[in-house]
Amino acid sequence: MAGILAYVIIFLITVVTYRFLRRQKKESHGRAETELPPGSMGWPYIGETLQVYSQDPNVFFAAKQKRYGEIFKTHILGCPSVMLASPEAARFVLVTQAHLFKPTYPKSKEHLVGPAALFFHQGDYHTRLRKLVQASLSIKAIRNLVPDIDALAAFSLDSWHGGHVVNTFHEMKKFAFEVGILLIFGCLEARYREELKKNYFIVDRGYNSFPTNIPGTPYKKAIVARKRLGKILSDIISERKEKKFLEKHLLGCLLNSKDEKGQVLTDDQIADNIIGTLFAAQDTTASVLTWIVKYLHDNPKLLEAVKAEQKAIRILKEEGNQPLSWSQTRNMPITYKVILETLRMASIISFTFREAVADVEYKGYLIPKGWKVMPLFRNIHHNTEFFTDPQKFDPSRFEVAPKPYTFMPFGSGVHACPGNELAKLQMLIVIHHLVCKFRYCLKIKVPMICYVPIIRTTHCLNSNLDHFLLLVPFTEISLLSLQKQS
Ligand code: HEM
Repeated sequence: MAGILAYVIIFLITVVTYRFLRRQKKESHGRAETELPPGSMGWPYIGETLQVYSQDPNVFFAAKQKRYGEIFKTHILGCPSVMLASPEAARFVLVTQAHLFKPTYPKSKEHLVGPAALFFHQGDYHTRLRKLVQASLSIKAIRNLVPDIDALAAFSLDSWHGGHVVNTFHEMKKFAFEVGILLIFGCLEARYREELKKNYFIVDRGYNSFPTNIPGTPYKKAIVARKRLGKILSDIISERKEKKFLEKHLLGCLLNSKDEKGQVLTDDQIADNIIGTLFAAQDTTASVLTWIVKYLHDNPKLLEAVKAEQKAIRILKEEGNQPLSWSQTRNMPITYKVILETLRMASIISFTFREAVADVEYKGYLIPKGWKVMPLFRNIHHNTEFFTDPQKFDPSRFEVAPKPYTFMPFGSGVHACPGNELAKLQMLIVIHHLVCKFRYCLKIKVPMICYVPIIRTTHCLNSNLDHFLLLVPFTEISLLSLQKQS
């Protein structure tokens, strides 16, 4: 029996290897003049997926970079891919030759967020939507949000108070969700807010689960909740259209937009972009906030310096009995550098994905049409050439501006994060309340870091290539109120 099984396995491996090599040969046919980048493609079909995801993926990337240099090929999750680990290469893909590389996401994710969300697109539609999203996230727009974000941060942190343990990441997610709602709708009736929250979090849970239509599974539940979200958003949209609100919030910008032919956006396009913005904003901000909590905890001297900076502001604030002001948030140099260093150290978005829309040549190497292309932000942020002693948490390194394209926590080029100023503003405000009002101890679970979205593969290893690798420390935080100083 065992003998037969062994023969079957050998036969299968031979067939699969043969087909794989034929495909490889076909793919390289006619491109003999330009070489593919160095690197290995691993096993047929599986490629090097197991090596990437059975350990910290960054160890894999760093080892490859050491062996092959700034550009190398591999094969992960069913896709031949080229990885790029230099500022110059990232600039090439994201900025100067961005038209040759389109964003690429798994269909299952597109389905949940909504296919009309801007980050799935290139060209005119993307440009139009991006202008609208950018307008609602401009400095001019977000400075008016400071008092509300201040109140939300104070409220969130007060709700943790009482000496009980809370999960930092989950709490930060709730806070980031509320800020997202504020940005998108301004004032929103409580019944809509609650319905949106309930259904959004079901979609969120299904987002990183195995995509299947089997009833009862997280993905299927998410699909059903996404339909409900669409209905709630359509009700809100109808109401706002009727009242003819001329708001500056994201929904107002989307509702009032007309293209050169006078076409307005459809309700579905608006809904997809609202959900897309919530998705882009929430886990990212919550993850960085969680890392900040951890880094401050691990660096007591730094925590004291941040506390001193924030307490000086708090005294002024209390004298005037005022919420934080925009200009106060612009005057937090130590805290700001802590945020930048956290963005570098944690590099929560380790890399991004693009797909080559044509055969592209880079430094004499061929990037074939259809291959995935991944600029590796984290490798760049941890390269000794650009950041001395990169594993050390040292905010003072940001006293000097980093060299161009060596620091890209918010990406770069046409798809660069339009929410970066809002994200930093939220962090400044949360840190203000955190260090002024509380002392905290961390209860860190083991293993401490989890790589989410958890990369799950489908049977053909093809359709579930996750876009980002978001790193979140699994910390629980116990907040204890400080005695007021006399
Ligand atoms: C610390 C928090 C955040 C980080 C680290 C972050 C990072 C990023 C990165 C790296 C990209 C580019 C992805 C790519 O090129 O493939 C991106 C895009 C995007 N981000 Fe953020 N982001 C954060 C917060 C936010 C917030 C608060 C919002 C909105 C309220 C937001 C909205 C978006 C949108 C809409 C895009 C897509 C832009 C486009 O495709 O044109 N992000 N973000």
